[in-house]
Amino acid sequence: MPTKKTILDFQEMKKKGEKVAWITAYDFPVASFAEQAGIDMILVGDSLGMVVKGYKGTIPVTMEDCISHSQDVRRGAPNTFCIGDMPFMSYQTSCQEAVANAGRFLKEADMDAIKLEGGIRVCDQIKAITEAGIVVFGHIGLTPQSSGQMGGFKAQGLHVDSARDLIKDAVAVEEAGCEALLVEAVPPEVTEFITEKLEIPVYSIGAGLPCDGQLLICGDMLGMFEAFTPKFVKKYANIAEDITRAFEEYVKDVKEEKFPEDEHVYHIKDSQEDFDKLFNEFA
Ligand code: KIV
Repeated sequence: MPTKKTILDFQEMKKKGEKVAWITAYDFPVASFAEQAGIDMILVGDSLGMVVKGYKGTIPVTMEDCISHSQDVRRGAPNTFCIGDMPFMSYQTSCQEAVANAGRFLKEADMDAIKLEGGIRVCDQIKAITEAGIVVFGHIGLTPQSSGQMGGFKAQGLHVDSARDLIKDAVAVEEAGCEALLVEAVPPEVTEFITEKLEIPVYSIGAGLPCDGQLLICGDMLGMFEAFTPKFVKKYANIAEDITRAFEEYVKDVKEEKFPEDEHVYHIKDSQEDFDKLFNEFA
């Protein structure tokens, strides 16, 4: 059984140049496979809106959704560092609401940290949550909750002006108290600069190699989510194909009476004669 890592371990890994491999998970089975495979940390992302619930984006996801899926993941991965993702409008409205909702992830779902999206504009909330004793992961670059303002799910920091904003955001969230930072859909040159500039670990999802570790969404990397695949995804499996093939075979077997076979049924323990007598009683 793996020993559960803490934020101090991740800070130490940055110093040693040891990379962190993390994924998102939303349910018990995937979380338990992740733990068995030695995944370093799990994000219960609000991407569950798209991957699990079939929404077009993350906006409709609620605190109740996030808490419930975090509980499922914790049961599946009791010894893995888990991060609860603050959904849209669970922290933007006030510091008080941000602290209360962040606290729910720890109290109700036994998460080790929370993540929220944004840079300078959410620094007050980051400060308030860290002052409450909660480990906060920042998230800058492509931030799906504000994709409307970005004109869609678009890479960020491609030009000097937007890269400057990203660097300012990165520095600000570290100063506000973030203990790790996720950078999404940003060119590696910018990620590398931020990683070297900050003392806290900097992780990439679609932000290239030169940083302290990588995150992928389980639905993308397992080939389970077919609506769209971002450029930065590497597919390690094609579960959708496997599941569809299995269902097709099952339909065929049922229609052709090839399932169930003898090995799939329970066998009577009294004689057929005794059962015939029983059936006659009711005939
Ligand atoms: O919800 C999520 O999975 C995320 C990733 C896109 C980083 O926030």
